[in-house]
Amino acid sequence: MSVKKSAIVTGAGSGIGFAIACRLVKEGYAVTGLDVMWRQPISQDAVFERIDCDIRKSEQIKSTFAHVMKVHGRVDVVVNSAGVSGRWTVATISDEEWTRVLDINLFGTFACMREAAKIMSVQKSGVIINIASNRGLHGLRNGSPYAASKGAVLALTKSAALELAPSNVGVYAILPGSTDTPLLRGTRSEEQVAQIVGLNQPEHVADAILPLLSSDALAFNGACISISRRTAQ
Ligand SMILES: NC(=O)c1ccc[n+]([C@@H]2O[C@H](COP(=O)([O-])OP(=O)(O)OC[C@H]3O[C@@H](n4cnc5c(N)ncnc54)[C@H](O)[C@@H]3O)[C@@H](O)[C@H]2O)c1
Repeated sequence: MSVKKSAIVTGAGSGIGFAIACRLVKEGYAVTGLDVMWRQPISQDAVFERIDCDIRKSEQIKSTFAHVMKVHGRVDVVVNSAGVSGRWTVATISDEEWTRVLDINLFGTFACMREAAKIMSVQKSGVIINIASNRGLHGLRNGSPYAASKGAVLALTKSAALELAPSNVGVYAILPGSTDTPLLRGTRSEEQVAQIVGLNQPEHVADAILPLLSSDALAFNGACISISRRTAQ
């Protein structure tokens, strides 16, 4: 059984999740990445286990966490980065599209947190980090299911922190500003991307999780931290 600390990162196939998985590997964690699509190639900096897992499916999440427990004996860090965005209007969005976004961004995050909470409350240690969004605070024109899901993730983060604090488990949310990933580029033209002031790279978001891994961060349990404009010009 591994003696390394173990971390699970959802959405590790691309963008922010991939950068976080790589950073945790660099920090010495045995990382298990979950995704439904693997856009980033395996390289020297990206040595982590990749598991096909659709976070809408509780059974797949349960079996993935059980596998990690069998291999590593513990789960020290869970980062929920998997998510989808898009453009829809409140007046025309279909039931199916609404449900798809909420299922991935909210239910999927919750279902991973539930498995993490079961393990970490017994371990009496652990850190859960949810990648939320400033849109959850301020709204998003033509993005209501995205904004609603991210707002709910903030409430979920604070609720779980209240429950898990007595077990020494930290629960936090990071709210990245605009970050150069396929998700961002999927809803913007090249010209629009070029006009973003202070565009983050995924590695900037990965930097932000490191202070949360320390037990000192428990003083801020439930914190929802905006890192927008890190690279403001
Ligand atoms: N890029 C930004 O500007 C930005 C800003 C704020 C918040 N975020 C959030 O950051 C997180 C990561 O986004 P990103 O920008 O890196 O996007 P991305 O598209 O590069 O990565 C998201 C990953 O989630 C995976 N995913 C989607 N549905 C899934 C499912 N059902 N099960 C498992 N994996 C699934 C995708 O396959 C993809 O690899 C998202 O939650 C997003 O909402 C991004």
